[in-house]
Amino acid sequence: MFAAAWAPLRSRWPCAIGLLALLSLASSGRTGGLTTPALPSDFFTTACTSANHSIPLRMSALVPLSASFSGPSAGKWNLALRRLPIPCPTPFTALIRVAGSSVNPSDWKRARFARNFDGSSQAGKPIGTDVSGTIVALGSICGSLAVGNEVWGMALGGAYAEYALIPCHLAARIPASSPMSLVDYGTLAVGALTSLDALLRAGAPWTAEQNITVAVTSGAGGTGVFAIQEAIALGAARVVTQASPSHAAALRELGASLVVDYHTSSLWDELPPDSIDVVYDTYGGKGTAARAAACMRSGSVYSFVLGGEMYGVFSPTSAERKLLAQAGARYMDYGLLNASPQMMKTLEQMIAAGQVKAVTSKVYPMAEMGQAFSENAAGHVLGKLGIVPS
Ligand SMILES: NC(=O)c1ccc[n+]([C@@H]2O[C@H](COP(=O)([O-])OP(=O)(O)OC[C@H]3O[C@@H](n4cnc5c(N)ncnc54)[C@H](OP(=O)(O)O)[C@@H]3O)[C@@H](O)[C@H]2O)c1
Repeated sequence: MFAAAWAPLRSRWPCAIGLLALLSLASSGRTGGLTTPALPSDFFTTACTSANHSIPLRMSALVPLSASFSGPSAGKWNLALRRLPIPCPTPFTALIRVAGSSVNPSDWKRARFARNFDGSSQAGKPIGTDVSGTIVALGSICGSLAVGNEVWGMALGGAYAEYALIPCHLAARIPASSPMSLVDYGTLAVGALTSLDALLRAGAPWTAEQNITVAVTSGAGGTGVFAIQEAIALGAARVVTQASPSHAAALRELGASLVVDYHTSSLWDELPPDSIDVVYDTYGGKGTAARAAACMRSGSVYSFVLGGEMYGVFSPTSAERKLLAQAGARYMDYGLLNASPQMMKTLEQMIAAGQVKAVTSKVYPMAEMGQAFSENAAGHVLGKLGIVPS
């Protein structure tokens, strides 16, 4: 039965895509602390079981065609919806029918240059990272996951598609009774995990006695809305942030006790010296670190999340880092997200406890991705833009 089910599929499913995805997962070092098992001898004949679901041969997927150097403000994205073969799961991945995804700045940066961050070409290959959906086929080393489970996480090799692969050890099951929709779950991964990781690296969780104040430089963004909620869940006594006035009420509702309008003032103008324990800077405005240093306590942490060149993001200069050091603050260059199963578990617990929720301000169909990219690149989305395959 097993072999019979596999025979017609083997000739039509491009397992080489799965192999590439597996190799890139293994070589990226992003195995989240999981020891990567040796390739099984039957690797190329691992069955793509489809159980009760019917899986078509090809899917619609969004690909960048070539670099669009006109820039995001021109609203030109060389994107195309293509019919591509549906990838086959490797032993460590699950194939999901995509329900939702979202836009991260890294997605449109990849699309704009048609390149991945390691320099490899992204032209003609699906993009998109955050994902949620229903498992339709499963690798052999996927723990307790099963066909039919609804999951969310980060896609391997493109989420802007009807089907996507997801590494099993970084796939979180969606509880049947969740108040959040499948599309909401598809907006979580990069923003929520990056903020959680950065806060943990900055010393969280905290006790009430520590009386911690966390400053989030751009609380309304795709990282900021999660950072506010997570900092409170991790024990911060207060979270202060900056945003446009139209977003202030929403951020207060998420738990921020002070929302400063960055168009007319700044956190560093409003707060007294020695008042901040953690600065989580995902905006990178010029001179931010120098100004924040005046408000930071001895023993505090300035966590800077690298954003790339698009927003005119400025890494703190060595002079600014000196000012932080003089204030007794530790400078932390966050680097890149390296998600782990433990981080996924922590986030799942926060969601289950009602401490963290998605903030999906609008949902676009995949066919309107250019518009979604332009809206995100304009830099004033509240939370996340959801993306659905159709
Ligand atoms: N290294 C990593 O692994 C990693 C992971 C995730 C993200 N990132 C990077 O982190 C950066 C932020 O990501 P994101 O998803 O949060 O971006 P985003 O959603 O595009 O952020 C947009 C937000 O920035 C706010 N903003 C605009 N100008 C501002 C200013 N002058 N001061 C303060 N806030 C301002 C806006 O608030 P208003 O709308 O209220 O004006 C808007 O809500 C990006 O560069 C991204 O590439 C890096």
